[in-house]
Amino acid sequence: MKKNSNLSGRTDVLLLAVESSCDETSVAVLRGNKLLSLVTGTQIPIHRRFGGVVPEVASRNHTLAINAVAEEALSKAGVGFADLEAVAVTYGAGLAGALLVGVSYAKALAFALQIPLYGVNHIRGHIAANYLAYPDLQPPYVCLVVSGGHTAIVEIDSYLTHRLIGSTVDDAVGEAFDKVARCLNLPYPGGPEIDRLAQKGSPTIAFPRMCKDEKDGVRFSYSGIKTFAINYLHNLEQKGESVAIEDFCASFTCAAIDVPVEKTVWAAKTRGLSKIAVAGGVSANSYLRNKLQQEGKKAGLSVYIPPMTYCTDNAAMIGMEAQILIREGVSPSPLSLNAQPALRFENGEKA
Ligand code: KG4
Ligand code: ZN
Repeated sequence: MKKNSNLSGRTDVLLLAVESSCDETSVAVLRGNKLLSLVTGTQIPIHRRFGGVVPEVASRNHTLAINAVAEEALSKAGVGFADLEAVAVTYGAGLAGALLVGVSYAKALAFALQIPLYGVNHIRGHIAANYLAYPDLQPPYVCLVVSGGHTAIVEIDSYLTHRLIGSTVDDAVGEAFDKVARCLNLPYPGGPEIDRLAQKGSPTIAFPRMCKDEKDGVRFSYSGIKTFAINYLHNLEQKGESVAIEDFCASFTCAAIDVPVEKTVWAAKTRGLSKIAVAGGVSANSYLRNKLQQEGKKAGLSVYIPPMTYCTDNAAMIGMEAQILIREGVSPSPLSLNAQPALRFENGEKA
């Protein structure tokens, strides 16, 4: 690491960030917390015909796309490889082969340009999307993390200390959206499709609301909602009736979203915190965005919701988290950095 290897404490580092943990090949260029460019090559059309992400196909397509995506991001930012002072990359959690493409690319850049490498935790990146959108947001606050792999409420004590308050005991909420969408024969990815249909319907079907009471503590469960959905559709099919799909989607969405929103507000109030935020792909859900805003406001809390482009997987959030690591004086990663498909995102004890 020859060029400016000590970046510690700086807030104006020119950095290139890479995200390839699932089906988006994304590269961003940031100077400090200012986003200069973000280019994302999506693989959604490729995986759609399989009904979900095929890991091997994902890594192959990341390999094909990454160079062009990075060059486009640099060109849009008006800088060249030689100007870069650091490189950041998602190293977990995610699909092993997909992560490896980004990690190998970032390591090669760091080595060739002799600049520091910062391995970034994907979920911490999602949380950092809030700092990109709201530079004035400061810990402590409570963050609801809702993605394809996570459903959790986290207390953000400081920029570096994230304490898990509670999480799902089975499926993640995004996973439930995707699985229920498959039962409805909706195209992949199912979450946005359910969202689109739910906006035209009413929540007329009484889906169960799992772990909804305070006595249940801060935990979530989605297997019951999913089973209810499957049985409901199966019963209609046996009777030869068709489903009122808009109402079904609206009912499922309320059942899936109401509990995490209520518990996020409750977690902030019981801890005497005045701010709540949301992170992860499911934060793109229109019902969730409205409900969190409404319930937070009712409880007198400030509510932070990232704009849509920062909600689903993107390299801008990874770059922002790396800028935080640099600013807070965290050491760069070694060039032996490896992909960690099952990386956890929290530190501290479970509440
Ligand atoms: O954070 P993300 O892009 O990838 C992971 O890190 O998992 O989240 C992807 C998840 C998928 O399950 C997708 O269906 C869901 O986010 N999602 C949505 C919406 N947009 C994306 N779920 C509900 N409503 C949406 N509008
Ligand atoms: Zn994600």
